Amino acid sequence: MVERPRLLSQIRAGLRASPVTALLGPRQCGKTTLARCIARERRCSYVDLENPLDAVRLENPMRALAGLRGVVVIDEVQRQPGLFAALRVLADRRPMPARFLILGSASPELRRRTAETLAGRVRFVDMGGFSLEEAGGENLKRLWYRGGFPRAYLARSAGECAAWREDFVRTFLERDIPQLAPRIPAVRLRRFWTMIAHYHGQIWNGSEIAGSLGMAHTTSRDYVDLLTGAFVVRQLQPWFENVGKRLVRAPKVYVRDSGLLHTLLRVPDLRSLEAHPKLGASWEGFGIEQVLALSDARDAYFWATHGGAELDLLLLRKGKRWGFEFKCGDAPKMTKSLHSALADLRLEHAWVVYPGSERYSVHDSVEVLPASELPEVLDRLG
Ligand SMILES: Nc1ncnc2c1ncn2[C@@H]1O[C@H](COP(=O)(O)OP(=O)(O)OP(=O)(O)O)[C@@H](O)[C@H]1O
Ligand SMILES: [Mg+2]
Repeated sequence: MVERPRLLSQIRAGLRASPVTALLGPRQCGKTTLARCIARERRCSYVDLENPLDAVRLENPMRALAGLRGVVVIDEVQRQPGLFAALRVLADRRPMPARFLILGSASPELRRRTAETLAGRVRFVDMGGFSLEEAGGENLKRLWYRGGFPRAYLARSAGECAAWREDFVRTFLERDIPQLAPRIPAVRLRRFWTMIAHYHGQIWNGSEIAGSLGMAHTTSRDYVDLLTGAFVVRQLQPWFENVGKRLVRAPKVYVRDSGLLHTLLRVPDLRSLEAHPKLGASWEGFGIEQVLALSDARDAYFWATHGGAELDLLLLRKGKRWGFEFKCGDAPKMTKSLHSALADLRLEHAWVVYPGSERYSVHDSVEVLPASELPEVLDRLG
């Protein structure tokens, strides 16, 4: 069992502060396992909407839920959209006889609907696969190559891991997506997702991608939003402000889990990754996910000018600006691009995150940082 104390304390804090806590993440990332840990700590009822008996019981949610006390976990909540109106009423009872922990995956609609119907009554906790903090710094390369899905990361052999990831991709396309968007053929979406893997870390060029796949521009937009909403793709928005330079306006796209990226790119092992043209992009995406797992994903941007200056990740925290670059080399140095980012963005400090183990300064405001030291840095930013 891999311990996940940061997520557990976020859930506990949510349950204390808010009538409803929504734990959202991709399929198979460990949501149910975490909810069961919470359930063991206190008086708790558990409802699983993938269980046909529970699903029938919850057809009349007020009757099924009104009498419950303590914490009520509702798993696979996306399966019963009608539940949200009832939750709103149940959340407004005073004193509160029960608090709700709802679990959901693979649904672009879920967050929007939850936020709208339960406005002011819900706290979101986002989760993904194992983070580097959870896996431990000594397992960096394994986590990076295999990705964070528990079954992939913990697989007994490289072959078992590869088979699990391949199976995940297939099940996701053939079973999960049709529930959300029944008209999208799995083969077409797979080609699209693979295309995103090839664009991983680059600025999204919707019309170029649509053209090469023979689809309408708007369709490519819908697909990328669908995959983003199902938590398997990340779109990082560009930061722009009026500094008199022409700045890039389209988002960058990433396959969120590095293991799935490697499956889609057909990178069979760590050795091949180390010789692959996408090595740097893979590290960048992995690093961004590590930062955003430790910190809120809101107010996170990339920055790029047409003049060529770039910053992989800009975080705005408490009115201050912090920069992150991701370099998979042995001994990263100060770069011209970082000088521009410091000056143009007025960064408080920047870090160059790398897979090495030594922390050192390359400038008054720039440090080279081992990825395993990110938790300490991000906890300080708040
Ligand atoms: N912290 C952990 N340590 C070890 N194994 C884990 C951990 N969390 C999850 N797993 C394993 O990963 C698999 C998926 O976990 P789980 O069912 O909790 O995920 P889920 O997000 O609820 O998945 P689904 O979306 O399919 O319901 C299970 O085999 C589980 O045993
Ligand atoms: Mg589950």
